[in-house]
Amino acid sequence: MSVPVAVFASGGGSNFQSLLDHASSDTSMRMVLLVSDRPEVGALERAAKAGVATRVIPVKGRPLEEVGTETLAALQEFGVQVILLAGYLRLVPPEVVRAFPRRILNIHPALLPSFGGKGMWGHRVHEAVLASGATLSGPTIHFVDEEYDTGSIFAQWPVPVLPGDTPDILAARVLQVEHILYPLAAEHLCRAVERGASVSRPALPGEAFLLSSPFSAPDLRSQIQAAFRGSGDLAERSETAGPPSDPEPPAARNSSSAIQEAIPHPPKGNP
Ligand code: GRF
Repeated sequence: MSVPVAVFASGGGSNFQSLLDHASSDTSMRMVLLVSDRPEVGALERAAKAGVATRVIPVKGRPLEEVGTETLAALQEFGVQVILLAGYLRLVPPEVVRAFPRRILNIHPALLPSFGGKGMWGHRVHEAVLASGATLSGPTIHFVDEEYDTGSIFAQWPVPVLPGDTPDILAARVLQVEHILYPLAAEHLCRAVERGASVSRPALPGEAFLLSSPFSAPDLRSQIQAAFRGSGDLAERSETAGPPSDPEPPAARNSSSAIQEAIPHPPKGNP
């Protein structure tokens, strides 16, 4: 039985599309609901086109508790077991976080724990990366807690920052990797949920990989797939993220040390 999944999105939904495309093949995930806090966004159109149910649940100007109650009711109606945030710009209500322990993922377009926090979304993230002089960026997928971007890290993939990069150019390079990494990470989580097993984190690329492998889009998919199979070549370490009742370690301790050594640590976002 595939796992019923809901995606939360506030914008165009290119990540939602990559998840939809993945779920349409023979996988452990079944897309049952798209939740947006805004009407008339691209993600809603994509859902309608794919025949996926939608709910617009406004957040602005409402008590978070009320939003939580409405959201939980929708999730229950569709039997949702896993939630994937894909460009969702709102805080997930605490009651939803509590009802889905280690069952909510978010994708962020930079290497957390740097370049995250409230207000760090869209171009601001890539501007901050460029201003810091970092030579590496790349998407982070993390479990969602009650704050912005602080839940434990599930998967990251390094993407080079190149001379002459603008926020637009860097965003496009990172997005290309997001579209490969997120479906594989979501599938990995759903497979564990389906089997009632604990979730093992994919092997993160180690230092040798970072130094020896130039960024090559055609090779990416197979490299990332290998990481999810736990390939020894790429493995820096592979840990078991325990069952839902396990306490979550802080994000910083979960990040690949090779990645974290390669980027400067400016003060966190929160403008
Ligand atoms: C992506 O860059 C994602 O990392 C961030 O929001 C953006 C959403 O883009 N959380 P899209 O709507 O999926 O195209």
